[in-house]
Amino acid sequence: MPRQLYLLLFLALLLTNCSTDAKLEIGNLDIIPIPVDLQMAEGYFNFSEKTKLSVLDEALLPSVAVWLKDLNTQAGWDLSIATKTEDSAILIEIDTELQNDAYSLTVSPQQIQIKAANPAASFYALQTLEQMLPLSYFAANAAGKAYQIPCVTIRDQPRFGWRGFMLDVSRHFFTVEQVKEVLDMMAELKLNRFHWHLTDDQGWRVEIKQYPKLTEVGAWRVDHTNYDETISDWWGRPVQQASQAATYGGFYTQAAIKEVVAYAKARHIEVIPEIDMPGHAQATIAAYPELGCVNAAPHVATGGVFKNNTYNPGKEATYVFVENMLNEIIDLFPYDYIHIGGDECNKSQWKIDPDAQRKMRDEGLETEEELQSYFIKRVEKIINARGRKMIGWDEILEGGLAPNAVVMSWRGEEGGIAAAKAGHEVIMTPNKYCYIDLKQGHDDLEPNLGYSQLLLSTAYNYEVSPETLSAEEQAYIKGIQANLWTESITDWGKLTYMTFPRVFAIAENAWSSAERKDWNGFSDRLRTKFAQLEAQNIRYANSAFSPWIRHQGVGEAIEYTLDTEVEGLDIYYTTDGTEPNLSSSKFTGPFQLETSATIKARAFHGDQALGRTTELAFPVHQARGAKVTQEDGSVEDKFSDLSYARLHPSDTNWVKSNGNLVVEIELEAATAVKSISFDALRYTISAYYPPSKVEVYKVDEEGQASLLSETDYYEDHLVQGRNKITSELQWTPQKIKRLQVKIFNYQTLPTGQHRAGDASRLAIDELVVF
Ligand code: ACM
Repeated sequence: MPRQLYLLLFLALLLTNCSTDAKLEIGNLDIIPIPVDLQMAEGYFNFSEKTKLSVLDEALLPSVAVWLKDLNTQAGWDLSIATKTEDSAILIEIDTELQNDAYSLTVSPQQIQIKAANPAASFYALQTLEQMLPLSYFAANAAGKAYQIPCVTIRDQPRFGWRGFMLDVSRHFFTVEQVKEVLDMMAELKLNRFHWHLTDDQGWRVEIKQYPKLTEVGAWRVDHTNYDETISDWWGRPVQQASQAATYGGFYTQAAIKEVVAYAKARHIEVIPEIDMPGHAQATIAAYPELGCVNAAPHVATGGVFKNNTYNPGKEATYVFVENMLNEIIDLFPYDYIHIGGDECNKSQWKIDPDAQRKMRDEGLETEEELQSYFIKRVEKIINARGRKMIGWDEILEGGLAPNAVVMSWRGEEGGIAAAKAGHEVIMTPNKYCYIDLKQGHDDLEPNLGYSQLLLSTAYNYEVSPETLSAEEQAYIKGIQANLWTESITDWGKLTYMTFPRVFAIAENAWSSAERKDWNGFSDRLRTKFAQLEAQNIRYANSAFSPWIRHQGVGEAIEYTLDTEVEGLDIYYTTDGTEPNLSSSKFTGPFQLETSATIKARAFHGDQALGRTTELAFPVHQARGAKVTQEDGSVEDKFSDLSYARLHPSDTNWVKSNGNLVVEIELEAATAVKSISFDALRYTISAYYPPSKVEVYKVDEEGQASLLSETDYYEDHLVQGRNKITSELQWTPQKIKRLQVKIFNYQTLPTGQHRAGDASRLAIDELVVF
């Protein structure tokens, strides 16, 4: 468009605004989850502090009031609800023809009309309306504005009845106020089941009056909290020593639980408690050791290392405890479902515990799986006797499913499929689609949170109802849930970062019809959501809009490819460390560089920069293409092929070894060199540790080796976690043709270490010589 035309358009816009109200700002139709049907129309509805709102059915008053209170707070208004005043501009009423939480929302210049099947549906309609408000509404200083809402007709209803979000408050504790914020976020996305993971090895978080030690002891652990998100040390923290004070933790009083349940109820969210048993119970056993087995752990777990953490299914006293404790839980949570965990129960203690073994003999149980099934079935009886239904993770299928159990399928879809075929209700939460504690991007470009990966597009493209089930069996699939485990989530910023935007994808899978799903449309709508999150100062991940920098060595050069998960964006990049912009090189296809480079890349939509600038640096070094021979005579190209490994053990560019690595690098000709550096993988959960020691030798023509440099590693290199450790050894520059490198492995990991007693492993990347 010519410049003059832009100017005219700008003036025209200015005039239009002046002729109405300078403060009016236009809203959007970027609704998540996407409604079943949405028809745009001409014009706008002016929404301001003067707008009148009436609710024609008293049953809807509480729901509308909850919404309006939040709206007034955010907008700085003082709107009130009138009843039976049909001349109001916003009219909300029940329509008995609508079913299944359905609503319709019609916006015309004169009126907004909401028809709802029931109070929940009216609440959902209002959430939709609120999402349509312009960006300035979401800002911290929103007060005093007036808004234009685009005219539209929306018909909508949920696909699934169970639209869940699980928060683990055991691994890290979150306050009542923070839990309420999670509930607000759920309400905005029409999620309706809050699964509260209240107990685990690292903390018991709910007051039980009959068993006070559950919170006096079980809610507290030695504080090893590490807020640094470049290193994740959860899965290898030292265990509590007898002399140490347990200072990290917290719990909810029964009054606080009731407050949360009421807060959620007002937002049409049911709260489902999870009390994990018979495994994941180290905190429980620390409080009441008599509930455990032989050699039960005496302390609440400090991190991922837990053991001897199971209830004893052989003692009758265990069932007395479970019944008394669950009775208090059931009194606190008024809904149909009680979750009892049942996952990842380590049964090794049961094999040696005399009570457990006697119980197996008495009951004719052949395997420990059958003993777990016996335990779970008894727990189900306690829950059913109170008129409630029991949910368990899919391990409860092992050894025989309890008669009325609901299965939460997490290790994949298989557990859910088997349960549905057997006529049991199922909630789908397969980890590869629903675990939002996993990394949401390139391993080297994301905060180091999460031991594996779940990309936004993977979460979005998940089809909840397995094709292999018949229509009748599919009816047992009650819904889907996002699970936020908090091993790496030490604080609120990390919680929201992992939640957004993947919760949008899962909410859309939970609510919207399969036909309405469309990755490209979803990513367009996300841009509006991101702006809203930014206006609210909520940390979120823009990873799907941020370029992946992929590379591979091709002889003397490195070839680069840049892409984003979101389609249709332009990527601009630099190779000199400067910030990319629209004048930088545009990525049009793989390109090769024969020199070391720092690649910086940014995605654009038109001239709007999106996501974040990503950056990775790769050296093109003196030993590229050199022959690298291992001690056994084999040649290993990975040490010199200019292909570098990601921060994950699955990357095939790592050279792995269970022993020491002794290699000889033969340069093409004697070359002046002065250093060698390389990355080692620290991934202590899989026993990968950095080397204990490194030595570099110059090898002369007679084969005599003379030491050039060496490095010793001390205690800090035994730190637990996941990251790359760079070793760099230097010497006085000299001409060298053959270098020998000895990389020493810990033969046996010392006590106190993650995987102590095991042989550690090495994973070594490119040997970079300069
Ligand atoms: C689970 O992730 N252990 C249910």
